[in-house]
Amino acid sequence: MKKTLALISLLALPGLAGATEQIETYRQESRAIVGPFMQQLMAENKKAITEGGPESAVKVCKEIAPKLAGDLSRQQGLKLTRVSLKVRNPMLGTPDAWEQKTLKSFEQRMAKGEKADTMEVAEIVSEPGGKYFRYMKAIALQPGCVSCHGGPESISDATRARLAEDYPHDQATGYVPGQIRGAVSLKRPL
Ligand code: HEC
Repeated sequence: MKKTLALISLLALPGLAGATEQIETYRQESRAIVGPFMQQLMAENKKAITEGGPESAVKVCKEIAPKLAGDLSRQQGLKLTRVSLKVRNPMLGTPDAWEQKTLKSFEQRMAKGEKADTMEVAEIVSEPGGKYFRYMKAIALQPGCVSCHGGPESISDATRARLAEDYPHDQATGYVPGQIRGAVSLKRPL
């Protein structure tokens, strides 16, 4: 019995080590894509607010983010998106089952005192469509985001009117800086 167990663990170990190694390699590669993507969006948001006021920052979330995510997805042969449990644009931002589960786990980690800035998850997942490497990094709300995602006191009448017209089903308000607005999600076929 003991011998069989020992043999099984010997056989299983290299496989296990291989999977962990593979996840770590993909995790590093994902960080190298998602990190600059998020930095660029934060920088564009700051720039738009300084140059044209909070309302001109709409294009960062509405045009620049989806375009950049689409370009990177095509270039890298994977799917990069921004998802949230409380979406503004349900067409682009609705999470799938794995993303929902991960977003909820981020909320739980935050409730236990962990900072949103450093939260991430990397996993290899088997789905009906095949095997995928999946990676998610939390997006912490910055002070520059409250003019469109904060409480009623932070959103101007003009912005509120524009949001109500474009997104009648908007759920993405009421956030304070530091909270998890959503996550960047990367899905790579293996
Ligand atoms: C000037 C208004 C404005 C500001 C400022 C703004 N956003 Fe948005 N945000 C939007 C709009 C509009 C959308 C919906 C875009 C679309 O149509 O896909 C959106 C969508 C998003 C989404 C995609 C998920 C969803 O809810 O549809 C995320 C994530 C997001 N914003 C995060 C941020 C973060 C983080 C900041 C600050 C760095 C920020 N936003 C600042 C207007 C804004």
